[in-house]
Amino acid sequence: MSRRLLSFAVLAALLLTVSISAAQDAEPVRIGIAVAQTSNVALFGQEQVIGAQIASDYYNEQGGINGRPIELVFQDTAGDEAGAINAFQTLIADNVVGIVGPTLSQQAFAADPIAEQAGVPIIAPSNTARGIPEIGAYIARVSAPVAVVAPNAVRAALDINPDIARVAVFYAQNDAFATSETGTFQETVTALGLELLPVQQFQTTDTDFTTQITNVLPQNPDLVIVSGLAADGGNLIRQLRELGYEGLIIGGNGLNTANVFPVCQAFCDGVLVAQAYSVSYESEINTIFRDIYTEQQEKNPPQFSAQAFTAVQVFVEALIELDNTVGLDTLDLAASRTQLNETLLSLEYDTPLGPLSFTPDGEINQGTFYVARIEMNDDGQTGQFAFVASIETEPAAEVEATPEATPGS
Ligand code: ALA
Repeated sequence: MSRRLLSFAVLAALLLTVSISAAQDAEPVRIGIAVAQTSNVALFGQEQVIGAQIASDYYNEQGGINGRPIELVFQDTAGDEAGAINAFQTLIADNVVGIVGPTLSQQAFAADPIAEQAGVPIIAPSNTARGIPEIGAYIARVSAPVAVVAPNAVRAALDINPDIARVAVFYAQNDAFATSETGTFQETVTALGLELLPVQQFQTTDTDFTTQITNVLPQNPDLVIVSGLAADGGNLIRQLRELGYEGLIIGGNGLNTANVFPVCQAFCDGVLVAQAYSVSYESEINTIFRDIYTEQQEKNPPQFSAQAFTAVQVFVEALIELDNTVGLDTLDLAASRTQLNETLLSLEYDTPLGPLSFTPDGEINQGTFYVARIEMNDDGQTGQFAFVASIETEPAAEVEATPEATPGS
């Protein structure tokens, strides 16, 4: 190497070192992650933590927010409303620019108004009940609502068994998402001309569903639809099979996690679950996400992780845009939060869930959904979601509102 080339190489190395250490020295941009790391709801929250962390590591490797590192600040909400409220209050006082969370819609209806009042943007990674974005101007979600996701599972069930005539519906009446989702399921069943048997209610804390199951099995349902969370829903499915039900079962979004497999075990086999994410979706960002997840976890990424990754991605891309257009260092914290909210609602994103954008209200516009069938392995503990259908849908703005749940006897 000539003396001149050598000096050029030394200078380039020096500049690289200086710019890396400048990025490391730069003040981090803090994003709150308020999901359920403990309680039964951690069956979803654990997957969300993994998805959010993968996004943060990946975008930091790409340079963070124009050289400022992203710092995720985790605050466990556990599974109830009080936990979500505490987590939001702690994160807001801890100067985060926005929050990804909480896990449950039931928690969102309690905690989101606090963020709304403080002017802190929220991206809900998994709240699918009707009415979440309407909580306030600072509330958006990347989790498509039950109204656009759930009906796909009923149509898939009819494709598998066109003779379905009588449908039994169970739902957790103490949970906002399950109550909203059953409303959509019941409306779909009726609209398709199927007979809706008397609706059965339970609590997310229940472990014994014998009464509800024995109420409805003598009426010979050909399809059972369960709207609950993972532990209760998984136990209900196991008991349905143990008490002799042999027909098709649809599980709602609460059963959309491999963490339900050890609960219903071999009895999970064949359950249909609508999906807002497909591991097989072909795009550069989904390939990146899938490869990192698969290498770390040695299994395919689930919907809850993909949505959490997407929520962090939305914040990161909106922060970069805000920095490019206005300059983050020209804004105080309150102005950063407000302008971040406005910016994130205005952009289009290419995410592992597919291309997405938001309505002015913060509702997600997402085009493609899927239905999967659980296939359990011989060990009765592990299994996978095998994709059986993919569906293109209308943007959220064009989907009609769904009536509230109509509990039966
Ligand atoms: N989709 C569930 C909810 O909204 C987790 O609560």
